[in-house]
Amino acid sequence: GILEGNDLQAISNYIKSGKCKNITLMLGAGVSTAAGIPDFRSPGTGLYVGNFANLARLNLPYPEAVFEINFFSSNPVPFYTLANELYPGKFRPTLTHAFIRLLSEHSLLSMCFTQNIDTLERRVGVPENKIVEAHGSFASQRCIKCGTPFDSAKIKEMVLNFSKDKVVPRCEQKGCRGLVKHDIVFFGEALPKAFGQAPGYIRNSDLLIVIGTSLTVHPFASLAEIAPDTCPRVLINMETVGSFGEREDDVILLDKCDKVIKDLCKELGWEEELVKIWEE
Ligand code: OAD
Repeated sequence: GILEGNDLQAISNYIKSGKCKNITLMLGAGVSTAAGIPDFRSPGTGLYVGNFANLARLNLPYPEAVFEINFFSSNPVPFYTLANELYPGKFRPTLTHAFIRLLSEHSLLSMCFTQNIDTLERRVGVPENKIVEAHGSFASQRCIKCGTPFDSAKIKEMVLNFSKDKVVPRCEQKGCRGLVKHDIVFFGEALPKAFGQAPGYIRNSDLLIVIGTSLTVHPFASLAEIAPDTCPRVLINMETVGSFGEREDDVILLDKCDKVIKDLCKELGWEEELVKIWEE
């Protein structure tokens, strides 16, 4: 194996050895739960499970419908209700987000592939060319009928006022009036072009770190399988997921990601830098 062991110490030693130059990240909702944004599938608190008040109130046929393009076309109200609650600007990046920027500042970040739509990777200051938002984000929006982009300032105001106004944004092109939707990848929609680069990045990585995802949504989840044997895989999550544990160089660290990241940075001698970025 590439690693001396299957623990935090081994990862730290590998990063410090200088042999680990390209680190690729795969992120999911667990990275942002400490920021106050619920994930999707954690028992009791996930948006899709348990009785999280937000979704129960939306009267959906089933929870995932809130992110389904066909359902949205017939009823966009649940999506905009949720968008009002989850809109970027209301949340602060976590220590784990600070770690992404730290990797980038140490010239170790190859690429950060995130499933999250909260834009907290950008907010913490990770350079844009190091982030691929595989499931899109709230950063842009367009008409689902004619594709015309819709003004960002205007939709922001509408989303933030949605809880009282209940006005759904509609296309302003003459005679269109199509529904406007953020460029979030809904079930049944294609992933952004930039996602196509993912296999290349992962094949050329020295380390793959997967954080806070159940690895249940494909094609994103399958990326973890592409890592070659020369690329150890690290999982930082509350539960074991995917095929982690099947390979010699798999490292599984089951705990809250902010805690694991803090411990890792302590080993690396990066703790002060980490906290400095986080406190900015
Ligand atoms: P999930 O909710 O499916 O999984 C989140 C994972 O993070 C779970 O395995 C949790 O145990 C773990 N987790 C939660 N809090 C954590 C913490 N503080 N530290 C470490 N781990 C923690 O979320 P995703 O895998 O991101 O799509 O879901 C994938 C996609 O499903 C999302 O991108 C979303 C959804 O449909 C869209 O919105 C388009």
